[in-house]
Amino acid sequence: MPKITRIAAREILDSRAIPTVEVSLLTDSGSYSVASVPSGVSMSKNEDVELRDGDLDRYHGKGVLKAIDHIHKTLAPALIGRDVTAQEKLDAVMLELDGTPNQSKLGANSILAISIAAIKAAAGCYNLPLFMYLQKRYRPGSNLRVPTPIFNLINGGAHGAGNLDFQEFHVIPSSRMPYKEALRAGAEIWMSLRDELIHRNAIHSVGDEGGFAPNLFTNADALELMALVIKNSPYRLGLDVYLGLDVAANGFYNSGVYHIKDSPKPLDRQGMTQLYQTLVKDYGLLGLEDPLDHEDWKGWTELTRVIPESTMVIGDDLITTNAARLQQAITQKACTAVIVKPNQIGTLTETIALLKVAQDNNITTISSHRSGETNDTFIADFSVGLGTNYAKFGAPDRGERVAKYNRLLEIDSYLAKST
Ligand code: PGA
Ligand code: ZN
Repeated sequence: MPKITRIAAREILDSRAIPTVEVSLLTDSGSYSVASVPSGVSMSKNEDVELRDGDLDRYHGKGVLKAIDHIHKTLAPALIGRDVTAQEKLDAVMLELDGTPNQSKLGANSILAISIAAIKAAAGCYNLPLFMYLQKRYRPGSNLRVPTPIFNLINGGAHGAGNLDFQEFHVIPSSRMPYKEALRAGAEIWMSLRDELIHRNAIHSVGDEGGFAPNLFTNADALELMALVIKNSPYRLGLDVYLGLDVAANGFYNSGVYHIKDSPKPLDRQGMTQLYQTLVKDYGLLGLEDPLDHEDWKGWTELTRVIPESTMVIGDDLITTNAARLQQAITQKACTAVIVKPNQIGTLTETIALLKVAQDNNITTISSHRSGETNDTFIADFSVGLGTNYAKFGAPDRGERVAKYNRLLEIDSYLAKST
């Protein structure tokens, strides 16, 4: 039984110059791991709490020294000497020490950094690559497959400096395409989109997730532009690649209505649903993420009923990687796919509980990075090991996004050689 001998935490920077938590963990078998946690900006109030210092003299209040302190003074002393492979127990000990429903005392950021560091060190104890250890531990005997990537090529909303309301405009290669070809398609379309934006003299700098952040007239214009770029590429829209959206509708929802460029007056839930029906018809969208406010359960159920089955209705802010909320969504038929973000729920064990509910109920699973990221590639191994259908890691540029797509390439080439 390999025991944890040391846990050390520090404050590092994420891709937005905002502090985040990094943890190193050592075991008595010599296995050593490092893990850091990402951070979102379009966050739901239902997410577990990311502890920030609030000290305006440091990093505009965004420091994480309190979280680091909790690791050194409270969490590490309770974990040192414990079996590093007993993930459920380690996570339970941390949740008990926190004692709140949303990890607001010790912080989901401190707890998740240790949770991930532990599973990485456990894989090391068995001398296995992380994705393989995850598969053997949680899905023994299942097939290993690299998930289909979802590329976020245009960044609006809270992620872009441009003027678009919708947060993410996706290009999604066909699931039949081998991963290497899918990554190439995403990168080539990203390059062509840049050329087209330069040609139009539109802004072409990139947003938080590496997609372009242009000024366009409406949100539908962004889809039209992407469709045009794909039309002039070797890839066929609707056959080789698809379009998708993460609307992140909370961002422009106010007092029962949605304010967007595509309509001169605010739209209610029926108006938004009609707009989506038109966009699905015009662009054959494969995915529609967070189309309505995250507490409008009735609206989600109605939208899921009228949108064609070929379009995934994806819950991110609606579900917040919470198994109980997913269970509610299943009962109410409120979505058909779910975003899986470990830092919304705070421990690996709880993330896997959500995945199990999804996989047992035919809900499509999409593992996801956050808009504020580090170069940690845990989420790539997690996606393969736990068998998620899709992986959403941003655009195929910016180091912290490419690190994850490249890790999938590494796993893909390993799997190809070993079959
Ligand atoms: P976030 O955005 O990481 O800023 O929450 C990602 C998403 O909404 O999918
Ligand atoms: Zn989202």
